[in-house]
Amino acid sequence: MCGIVGYIGDHSAVSILLKGLQRLEYRGYDSAGIAVLEEGELAVFKKEGKVANLISQLNGTGLHGSIGIGHTRWATHGVPNDTNAHPHVSEDGKIALIHNGIIENYLTLKSELKAKGYHFQSETDTEVLVQFIADVYRNSDVDFAESVHLALQRVIGAYGLVILNVDEPDQLIAVRKGSPLVIGKGDHAHYIGSDASPFLEYTKEVIYLNDDEIAVVKRDSISITDSKHKRVSPYFERLDLELDAIEKGAYDHFMLKEIFEQPDRLRDCMRGRVLAQSGEVKLGGIRSYADKVYHAKRLILTACGTSYYAGLTAEYLFEDLCRIPVEVEYASEFRYRNPVLSEDDVLVAISQSGETADTLVAVELAKSAGATVLGICNVVGSSIARATHEGIYTHAGPEIGVASTKAFTAQLIVLSMLALKIAGERGTIDQRKKQALVKELQVVPELIEEVLDHAGRIKQIAQKYWLASNFLYLGRGYQYPIAMEGALKLKEISYIHAEGYPAAEMKHGPIALIDAEMPIVVLALKDKAYDKVLSNIEEIKSRHGKVIAIISEGDEAIKAQVDDWIEIPAVLEYFAPLVSVVPLQLLAYHIGIMKGCNVDQPRNLAKSVTVE
Ligand code: AGP
Ligand code: GLU
Repeated sequence: MCGIVGYIGDHSAVSILLKGLQRLEYRGYDSAGIAVLEEGELAVFKKEGKVANLISQLNGTGLHGSIGIGHTRWATHGVPNDTNAHPHVSEDGKIALIHNGIIENYLTLKSELKAKGYHFQSETDTEVLVQFIADVYRNSDVDFAESVHLALQRVIGAYGLVILNVDEPDQLIAVRKGSPLVIGKGDHAHYIGSDASPFLEYTKEVIYLNDDEIAVVKRDSISITDSKHKRVSPYFERLDLELDAIEKGAYDHFMLKEIFEQPDRLRDCMRGRVLAQSGEVKLGGIRSYADKVYHAKRLILTACGTSYYAGLTAEYLFEDLCRIPVEVEYASEFRYRNPVLSEDDVLVAISQSGETADTLVAVELAKSAGATVLGICNVVGSSIARATHEGIYTHAGPEIGVASTKAFTAQLIVLSMLALKIAGERGTIDQRKKQALVKELQVVPELIEEVLDHAGRIKQIAQKYWLASNFLYLGRGYQYPIAMEGALKLKEISYIHAEGYPAAEMKHGPIALIDAEMPIVVLALKDKAYDKVLSNIEEIKSRHGKVIAIISEGDEAIKAQVDDWIEIPAVLEYFAPLVSVVPLQLLAYHIGIMKGCNVDQPRNLAKSVTVE
């Protein structure tokens, strides 16, 4: 949930940590802090709010220590304030710790520690952890790394931790269980991050820590042991990521950059995987389990948030093209439902970050029930990508805006390729149809470019409606999940209450909300549902609702019936969601900007939700 950065080297740590925290801020942004080892003592600075507040607080402090840790928080235990911000420090002032995750048994540990006379400053679970580790360290005669190991045996929960101890000043300890940590190798230096973004300009040689591993990180060495004390040889990978992928460039916001990047990222996603000439689809990532996938009795798609809507859209596609029964389930519900699973099931977990705790648990559950589990992730090497049997990366590049845009369309492209592949193998579509569909899929990026060329019109529409307090989004068939996604984008970015509904459901309840103040975004493309959706528009207009319609290019007739319209180019129904979602992303973006919201870092949200 939060951002973690650590540095040990020869340079002054503060600027490296602060720059790193700014890059990580998308992961959590309610408070931030650093601890630096300064002449044998810990210098700790923490501030509520954005990293910028912390930077102002540090102005003129002249810290020069060359080992330190930094954290940007997304509060789970205790309100966001200076005291609850990380790093947390043990009562004796010797150990500083930053934490991503939740310590589930913190109350038990806290009362044990209180009984021993410990005092607590903050409301966090994290402070309990640092005091507990300090207590074990103080009362055992093993070294610090071993004390951490011993202490963690009592700890229940999820964590990514980086720990600094003044008694062992030439090392940082990094430990993970359920929250990602990556270590970068520098020149006489090492970096630690919850992802590689804080140190990308210094090194691309990285090690991803596995669950239950403890790394002792020194300037010139790293030693890693697993939970059974077995030495793990550090395995360095080279990151295939450039700095401009995590910077805004000429755009005002990451969200806008990521919306406009979609055509290129979708081309990247399809490159080498779809061959227009032959209609072939190659998905190397699912080679070993191909047979299981093609002959699955049932597909279960599971995810959260926007990724869940990608799953809902794909349900239509898999049923239409592959004739396989499909279930789409919120990951958080799936795991608590005692689902009936068998070895003939294929579960597909969809996740941009690859770290979403609920989705990860669903993956583990399906695996233990013997199902084949595939991942569709954006972040390479992420926990879900590693926990699944096989998978297909979306290759959308780092998504920094908290509201997902390009990752969603890339998920839809991957799911479309998977549907075409399975349909071809099962013989539920013939070769000619497959070839035609592959061809159409390949032109989707161009169609999105056409929508982006008319982005100005969407801004004008936003200007008319940005003061509304509620919005309804309606769609039918393939466009129903897009209505849900459009509403989610608006909620996240502008804090306007918005609901997505299947168009025909409107008359079963939501119609009661409609009056002259209510804008209703209707996805009214020329598809099977078109005539029915037109009737829904009539029903809205009779109640004086304001209709903003997403329409097919050239549909002149509908223009007279609605208040505002946005045209999208003609595209086959199967792939229309990829195009129709783009104006909804832009509408949310512009309304958010007009309302003065921080569109890249909406309140209360964080980019990856690593707590259940
Ligand atoms: C999307 O705009 C959201 N911020 C959120 O719903 C997100 O899609 C969800 O948390 C799932 O994340 P994941 O794809 O990284 O698993
Ligand atoms: N549970 C910790 C807290 O509330 C860590 C939250 C985080 O991951 O940022 O401080």
